[in-house]
Amino acid sequence: MKVTLIAALTADGFIAKDDAHLSTRWTSKEDSLFFRERAKHAGHMIVGSKTFATFNRQMKGRKMYVYSRSLEVENAYNNDIEVVSLAPKELIADLAKRGIEEVLITGGSSIYTLFMNAGVIDTLLLTHEPVIFGTGVTLFNEAVSAKLQLSLVHNLSDQTKVFEYEVMQ
Ligand SMILES: NC(=O)c1ccc[n+]([C@@H]2O[C@H](COP(=O)([O-])OP(=O)(O)OC[C@H]3O[C@@H](n4cnc5c(N)ncnc54)[C@H](OP(=O)(O)O)[C@@H]3O)[C@@H](O)[C@H]2O)c1
Repeated sequence: MKVTLIAALTADGFIAKDDAHLSTRWTSKEDSLFFRERAKHAGHMIVGSKTFATFNRQMKGRKMYVYSRSLEVENAYNNDIEVVSLAPKELIADLAKRGIEEVLITGGSSIYTLFMNAGVIDTLLLTHEPVIFGTGVTLFNEAVSAKLQLSLVHNLSDQTKVFEYEVMQ
């Protein structure tokens, strides 16, 4: 099964101003469309409860595995969710057993870090947006070490590029 981390970054390396900051408030329309296409194609997204709480609509055609230590997560827009807390390797093995071919790791920082440090990410899709926050939430919130190979640059517009990296094992 393919495991892809997808994130949008400011020019100074942040993914949000704070943990309640909705990504689509500052990313480009092109990036929102790119994210929607990739998410619909995969059909399965892994997300932390704080990021899930920032979503302000129903996302049809996608199942979300919401990481939380609580048994229940507020699901105001009636999304298709499953609350999870398994270690990343166990969750990925479980999803593979169910016949799922691709899953997107859609953040936030703590979930990106958990999955990178578990060594289960194959590909990173990092959108670079021409915005600066100065301070905020970083892509990872702990030490992470990985060697990447740039495999593709998606030219979403003159201003917005997505860098696709493969994680070297
Ligand atoms: N720019 C982008 O592409 C992008 C993408 C995604 C998110 N973001 C931003 O990132 C920010 C949120 O990031 P964040 O790191 O603060 O929060 P987060 O990763 O979205 O969620 C953290 C929560 O996940 C749960 N969790 C974490 N580790 C767990 C584990 N081992 N087992 C079970 N549950 C676990 C806990 O939920 P409970 O507290 O419920 O137990 C924890 O509070 C938001 O501002 C969001 O907009 C940006």
